[in-house]
Amino acid sequence: MAQVIAIDGPAASGKSTVAGGISRKLGIPYINTGNMYRSVTWHFLRNGIDPLHADMHDMLDLLQQLKLEYLRNPNGDFQIYLNGDAVCEADIRSPEVTACVSQVSAMPEIRQWLLDKQRHFAGMGLVVMEGRDIGTVVFPDADYKFFVTATPYARALRRLNQDGETPDNSTVQSVADQIAERDRLDSTRAVAPLRQADDAKYIDTTDMSITEVVELIAGQVNNARN
Ligand code: DC
Repeated sequence: MAQVIAIDGPAASGKSTVAGGISRKLGIPYINTGNMYRSVTWHFLRNGIDPLHADMHDMLDLLQQLKLEYLRNPNGDFQIYLNGDAVCEADIRSPEVTACVSQVSAMPEIRQWLLDKQRHFAGMGLVVMEGRDIGTVVFPDADYKFFVTATPYARALRRLNQDGETPDNSTVQSVADQIAERDRLDSTRAVAPLRQADDAKYIDTTDMSITEVVELIAGQVNNARN
């Protein structure tokens, strides 16, 4: 078994906030795999590669020269470094990156490149890892698996309240449409689609606070560990 708390779920379901809370409550590292896909997407864009139209060879050439690491920053939190430089949340969560990260994450070559790095985290002791395929593909033998979701409307409202993630003129409806499209792309792709692992616990967070979700998951993990 892998000492991993796997948290999967669709876009804007609150996974990141919940995983961050569990990390602090249990004092364990938190790995955000969505940020890994976002960092690679941002790296393509800033190097003049439009991932939606580029040749895979050019993309892989660029990745060959890229050192992606997940290291502790001076605050003690894990952060992504590209060729030695810490990536900035504002860059990787920008609307430009968000607009094409689902397509990048559907590319099998890119997934394989990141999979090796994600599996590397097993063996560090208990970690909380969040994404779309952690409980199904990255760590099918994770000790704990959760599938966190909420209604599309609740997710759109949450995303709209996160500064910098949506274009300025966004409405709940436009954000909900964008989220629905990302759900569709993420769950219908051929490789490692978003889906609940058979042995994952399903949590609908529509009417729950972040604290309640963190307490629920941390409580179940603590019960199982004691
Ligand atoms: O969680 P997020 O919205 O930051 O994720 C960004 C994209 O990365 C999302 O469209 C799906 C993809 N992703 C993935 O395919 N597999 C993961 N384990 C994590 C994210």
